[in-house]
Amino acid sequence: MSTRRGSAANLEADALARRFPPGFAWGAATAAYQVEGSTDVDGRRPSIWDTFSHTPGRTRNGETGDVACDHYRRWRDDVDLMVELGLGAYRFSVAWPRIQPEADGRVNEAGLDFYDRLVDSLLERGIDPYLTLYHWDLPEALEALGGWRNPGIVARFAEYASIVGRRLGDRVRHWITLNEPQVFAVLGHAEGVHAPGMHDWRAALTVAHHAHLAHAAASDVLRRYVPGARIGLALNLVRYEPASDASEDLAAADRLDGTSNRWFLDPVFGRGYPADVVGLYGELVDGIDLPAVGAIRPPDLLGVNYYTRELVTTATGTLDPARATIVRPPGPRSTMGWECYPDGLRLTLERLHREYAPTSIVITENGSAYPDLPADDGAVDDPERTAYLASHVSAVADARDAGVPVDGYFAWSLLDNYEWAEGYDQRFGIVRVDFETQRRTIKGSGRWYRELLAAAGR
Ligand code: FCB
Repeated sequence: MSTRRGSAANLEADALARRFPPGFAWGAATAAYQVEGSTDVDGRRPSIWDTFSHTPGRTRNGETGDVACDHYRRWRDDVDLMVELGLGAYRFSVAWPRIQPEADGRVNEAGLDFYDRLVDSLLERGIDPYLTLYHWDLPEALEALGGWRNPGIVARFAEYASIVGRRLGDRVRHWITLNEPQVFAVLGHAEGVHAPGMHDWRAALTVAHHAHLAHAAASDVLRRYVPGARIGLALNLVRYEPASDASEDLAAADRLDGTSNRWFLDPVFGRGYPADVVGLYGELVDGIDLPAVGAIRPPDLLGVNYYTRELVTTATGTLDPARATIVRPPGPRSTMGWECYPDGLRLTLERLHREYAPTSIVITENGSAYPDLPADDGAVDDPERTAYLASHVSAVADARDAGVPVDGYFAWSLLDNYEWAEGYDQRFGIVRVDFETQRRTIKGSGRWYRELLAAAGR
């Protein structure tokens, strides 16, 4: 029974919840650099995001993750918040620069202790941890050695995975090796808008290649140290649709799907790189040992980060090797400029099932940013976000009805946080954070999510 009997939102939440089985993982997600702050305590050394955000002109208003949500110090309150929301699962990332701060790779026990305490506390409160090893905060000491461009990163990442796996593997069952390799490869190394801020497509493709190999190596290590673990990675999958029926636009959408989605999906499922995209990249991939990704074992779980669709057309003047341009769809958009397009999630899930047949899919991120202006009493009413989340959860239910094995959903994000180069302007949380006072306020969408999860648990 819902607590406020009769309210339309509650009735809707009840009906939606009934479409999911018991045991479905309901959660919310964060990432270390976006929430933790305390970037120079307990032995942590800088990551590439500290360097990037402290470089003038790189981020909106020069904002950094120095403080963020102060989660490193307030984590106990944040776990209380998760309990208040009724979360059954929490996806967080471990900051590599807390664990291996220096190039010599020595282990910083204080960094491990933080996540150890967090995991214990989650488990005590009945919240299942989903641990991401890498959410973009490469130790700066490794960047100085060439970062993800250096083939040595594969062994370094596997070593890091073994350290975290041996320490937390007795309690953590769900492991995400990498978050969105396409984003850190391309936005970080070709488009220059994320750390480390390079403009070099050849470097981006080298990084993507090493990311594939690092995912495979870390998965092998985790399988050794964490028996029974479910291991996978989280891919950002965008639904690319042609802006018109013109055959050029159809072809452009397909090329962008190839460079952004299939370049990452195909190797992860052991198929090697897609031949059409290899042809498209041409000499950009000369010198990369492409067949090396052929033997990767499919993940136990595929994490899907889904936000929007993109409408694609051809245009001259683009630097993208896919020779495609994104056009803005008409209609309402989030403050990120993204369209709310839940059917894209259903179609993406059905396509994954049809073309890749993963054994398990988890929606590791889904959400939207809005202005969220608080009322005089501090309350935040965000009906757009509630509608966004409800329509996407419903799309997941549709996909499940069509036979797609989705067994978890994580709202992005638990908290308003540091949205990378966009700084603090983009609010994705189901909980508002006042960055002056660090006060947390559950938004209307958070209250709706709580209703949904309560109904799902009954
Ligand atoms: C994803 C990132 C996540 C967050 C959301 C909005 O690409 O994984 O950290 O920034 O976008």
